[in-house]
Amino acid sequence: MSTIPVITLNNGVEIPQLGFGVFQIEPDKTADAVVTAFDAGYRHIDTAQMYRNEAGVGEAIKRSGLPRDEVFVTSKLNNDSHDPEVAAAAFDRTLEALDTDHVDLFLIHWPLPTVGDFVETWHAMEEIYRSGRAKAIGVSNFQPHHLRRLIDGSTIVPAVNQIEVHPYLTQAEVRAFGTEHGIATEAWSPIAQGKVLDDATIVRIAEAHDRTPAQVTLRWHIQRGDIVFPKSVTKKRIRENLALFDFELDGVDMAAIDGLNRDERTGPNPDTFDYVP
Ligand SMILES: NC(=O)c1ccc[n+]([C@@H]2O[C@H](COP(=O)([O-])OP(=O)(O)OC[C@H]3O[C@@H](n4cnc5c(N)ncnc54)[C@H](OP(=O)(O)O)[C@@H]3O)[C@@H](O)[C@H]2O)c1
Repeated sequence: MSTIPVITLNNGVEIPQLGFGVFQIEPDKTADAVVTAFDAGYRHIDTAQMYRNEAGVGEAIKRSGLPRDEVFVTSKLNNDSHDPEVAAAAFDRTLEALDTDHVDLFLIHWPLPTVGDFVETWHAMEEIYRSGRAKAIGVSNFQPHHLRRLIDGSTIVPAVNQIEVHPYLTQAEVRAFGTEHGIATEAWSPIAQGKVLDDATIVRIAEAHDRTPAQVTLRWHIQRGDIVFPKSVTKKRIRENLALFDFELDGVDMAAIDGLNRDERTGPNPDTFDYVP
């Protein structure tokens, strides 16, 4: 099994650069999928309160027999819990569902610019961090102007910003802001939920390397330095998406995939998304 590289976050915490995402996995199917991922070699799981499957992740950790400190677990604060007191209680429920005394990373899931002040929510996140029950804290779906306001109004710079990134949405501006401020980029929907896999350029590069389009796309993310966690409930794909560390894309391949950008989202725009369950 190839070794998964580790990235050191701005507070010294280490995160495996490749993980396993569990968005849209049914709660009662999550434990099986995560155990399959652990068996394949994944040690980093990305879940969220919104996914309603944190308990399945917790069950999988127990079933796997892996020591807790060998697994990196991320969860995210739901959109209905931005109020600081509500956020604290919601975080307690995350720990209960995961049946653990800490998460490795806890994120504000969406900025919800029309709902309230996410800087106040971030202050509640800072309290959670200081309690030691989240080893790192960060945000998700924040644009540079959200990050600027957050940094200006608080003490702790987010360790990560988890945003939609794939060859059709390369996110130059948000990633550059992150690099400048020591915020690691996590790329969600890294294969655009499958939409980039038929792209002629990606198929051509995959054939040249005798790899699948998914592997080439994920390898492009890895070489850009982002953190990725493809989702799959298919055992063969779970294994395939991990086999990225015994081949390399050259500068020409990387530039060809960079050139596919068309600023096309598969998910909501963070500047207008204000869904509260
Ligand atoms: N922060 C946020 O707002 C946010 C939003 C979306 C996602 N995320 C995170 O990012 C993770 C990944 O994103 P995502 O689940 O939206 O999309 P994704 O990983 O880009 O794509 C998942 C889809 O691609 C298929 N797939 C996976 N590997 C494949 C392969 N090797 N070949 C062909 N098809 C393959 C899966 O099918 P099967 O499962 O049927 O195999 C599934 O339909 C999520 O699970 C979640 O943890 C975060």
